[in-house]
Amino acid sequence: MFVRNLLTVAIIAFVPASTAIASGGGSEPVPSRDWSFSGLSGTYDKAALQRGYKIYREVCSSCHSMKRIYFRNLSDLGYNEAQIKNIAAEYTVEDGPNDEGDMFERNGLPSDALPSPFPNVQAAKFANGGAFPPDLSLIIKARGNGANYTSALLTGYKDTPPHGEELSDGQYWNTYFPGHKLAMAPPLSEGQISYEDGSLETLEQYSHDVVQFLTWASDPYMEERKSTGFKVIIFLIIFAGIMLAVKRKVWADLH
Ligand code: HEC
Repeated sequence: MFVRNLLTVAIIAFVPASTAIASGGGSEPVPSRDWSFSGLSGTYDKAALQRGYKIYREVCSSCHSMKRIYFRNLSDLGYNEAQIKNIAAEYTVEDGPNDEGDMFERNGLPSDALPSPFPNVQAAKFANGGAFPPDLSLIIKARGNGANYTSALLTGYKDTPPHGEELSDGQYWNTYFPGHKLAMAPPLSEGQISYEDGSLETLEQYSHDVVQFLTWASDPYMEERKSTGFKVIIFLIIFAGIMLAVKRKVWADLH
């Protein structure tokens, strides 16, 4: 029973979210990319996480919220406490009510969640031609084959729809979006965001980095889970060895 429980733990610990077998999401087969976080010993690439956060902050955050992420969580990206305080302080957040019952604005603190661009769903839809930009905190988990799908989505726009297809105002053709007609204009283009670490400023690199960041956001404990999985497996191997030795010893006299 005990061993079976341990095995279950080990199996759960080893199923990486990013390699979910379901390949839903796109209506075209989604190409697979190489990710540092896939595989049994995969880890997040901290430099890519930081670049990805920069992209989210400078581009995606004008439409998409990430309500489940708090500034203090950014320590996973390799930022220290002082850096996180500075990052948070660059944002203005609404707080209150104060003693007079009014809401007021102040600088962000590490304990705040990342501020949302719109106060409610209606405002978000109104600003986006009726389409709702989903919260991105768990988007990689919410889509089948999430990392590959999101990366393909960001790079999969076509300037003109295939022959015979019509787009209405505010619609864009995307090879990988189910139904192809997406209400999000291509958010990324070559050279749009400047990198300080010398990484390529290409669409491919941007989509790689922002997906790395979004994958971390939807699965921040992945590294811990995998390392626990390893420890459990090693424990099981040693335990099996000991059991074998005990069995031999117990039965030795009977032959
Ligand atoms: C100008 C606003 C805007 C910006 C900027 C923007 N998006 Fe979107 N996004 C939308 C809207 C609107 C939708 C919903 C589209 C629909 O359902 O047709 C959407 C949908 C999505 C989806 C879900 C697609 C699906 O399968 O349902 C993902 C993922 C996404 N955006 C990622 C991003 C990322 C990553 C960025 C930054 C690089 C970004 N978006 C920037 C407006 C935006």
